[in-house]
Amino acid sequence: AFFAGTDRPLAGRRALVTSGPTYEPIDPVRYIANRSSGKQGHAIAAALARLGAHVTLVSGPTREPTPPGVTLVPIETAVEMLAACRAALPADVAVCAAAVADWRVAEAAGQKVKKTGGAPPTLSLIENPDILATLSAAGPDRPRLVVGFAAETENVVAHATEKRRRKGCDWILANDVAPETGTFGGDANTIHLIDAAGVEHWPTSTKLAVAERLARRIDAYFGEGKA
Ligand code: CTP
Ligand code: CA
Repeated sequence: AFFAGTDRPLAGRRALVTSGPTYEPIDPVRYIANRSSGKQGHAIAAALARLGAHVTLVSGPTREPTPPGVTLVPIETAVEMLAACRAALPADVAVCAAAVADWRVAEAAGQKVKKTGGAPPTLSLIENPDILATLSAAGPDRPRLVVGFAAETENVVAHATEKRRRKGCDWILANDVAPETGTFGGDANTIHLIDAAGVEHWPTSTKLAVAERLARRIDAYFGEGKA
């Protein structure tokens, strides 16, 4: 990169970001999904790219434009998201901001399911792969820094600390989505960053500001020679 070492400190670093929802098909015309705008994940991809990183953004369907300089890999299902993430390795840092559907329909119908006048159909679900946990356990391919999110409504730090341990990631950005914070559906985020050393409480700010702060924090981590 032309300006490496000055305003583009992440030049030469590879970043993988997941964003948006996943769509899990029921049949060719119906699906199960989470609510997710993709705003936070896309903003993180944009912020890392602005600092010079080579960014692969693996995202489910969103209305967000692809940030400048970012390589978008569009996917629909969690299984596709995992395959695209594996294909994007090696990476120095992975940030999992996607709202992955926890389950998919065990056997999606090949044809549109029709009303028959009888009992409604019953969906049998199976658990989806956990992309954050898989990347965290990727052995020699593991990104040196793996970051996840946790949206919690109560005991935010305790739940997120447990989630960090269970997933094996390095940092968890715990997002307080209790109704009184006004976070849900809005543009503001109240983040608590949990790492091996403890908790860092971030002031309530916009998703863009959270992305910028996270990108700077990632740059500082690499700058400290921890990876
Ligand atoms: N995640 C993932 N793959 C999944 C599920 C979650 O990569 N199949 C990631 C999300 O992108 C997020 C983190 O894991 O970074 C936490 O997601 P969350 O839904 O809070 O965690 P779960 O383990 O699914 O627990 P819960 O039962 O609370 O939904
Ligand atoms: Ca989940």
